[in-house]
Amino acid sequence: MAKTTRLDLLRAKEEGRKLVVVTAYDYSIARLVDAAGVDAILVGDSLGNVIQGHESTLPVTLEHMIYHTACVQRARPSAQVVADLPFGTFQRGAAAALDASIRLVQESGAEAVKIEGGGPRVAAVEAVAHADIPVWGHLGLTPQSVHAFGGFRVQGKQAEAARRIREEARRLESAGACALVLECVPHDLASEITRSLQIPTIGIGAGPGCDGQVLVFHDLLGFDLDFTPRFVKHYDSVGRSIPEALRRFAQEVRDGAFPTLEHSYGTVEEAGGGATPAGRDTRAKRAGRR
Ligand code: KIV
Repeated sequence: MAKTTRLDLLRAKEEGRKLVVVTAYDYSIARLVDAAGVDAILVGDSLGNVIQGHESTLPVTLEHMIYHTACVQRARPSAQVVADLPFGTFQRGAAAALDASIRLVQESGAEAVKIEGGGPRVAAVEAVAHADIPVWGHLGLTPQSVHAFGGFRVQGKQAEAARRIREEARRLESAGACALVLECVPHDLASEITRSLQIPTIGIGAGPGCDGQVLVFHDLLGFDLDFTPRFVKHYDSVGRSIPEALRRFAQEVRDGAFPTLEHSYGTVEEAGGGATPAGRDTRAKRAGRR
């Protein structure tokens, strides 16, 4: 499959084709996500929550983002690979945002970066876009601003806040953003912004009027079945099926039901037998699957 680029995302909007974006943070998951035919894989700093177990995304560093984005890129996905600029990079200004973006592109293979916020962040978006690095904006509930917001709250509910988000969306597009994530804003505001922009909007908790939707991989598959914010739909319940499979494995090991000879290597040869290359075999098979 051909690589999805910034131009494909713009064309999708022109043609009224909905865009699908899912997060991934490693090679194996990126392969599965890409095989589903998504348009973009977001290496989100949500990895701070679902991979690292933090309460927020604030502890995620540029080195973490580079590491995980490089893991995703080893799956050689057709989808565009977008990496978040983490907290502490673009907040220092446009020059710092550009330095961090260049590192993400050079050291991890990111094909686009995402920067949270409007206001003073517009200059950062502009600097990165001027360096020919595709950049996604992100407005509404931008999790890196959790403390300023006083918690994870829906944004843009009051007329003045909605006006600011509308205005910032326009400024981000003018600054060169090639897509805009709208997170946890009223659906009528998201629809209005979507109609007013040439670039695609990607919603999460922003209603059906956006040009596309993004969900965190772990949320949509139901890793944590107790995590049920309004914007999440569980398309599976791996939070149940994975422990069930692991319990079956444990039971069979304890019962002696696994392994049988079917999962074992043959008998010792009388003479001249070499070692069975189990490891090499396995690695070659894995490589062949790519
Ligand atoms: O970090 C992330 O995964 C995100 C999405 C939720 C939009 O920014």
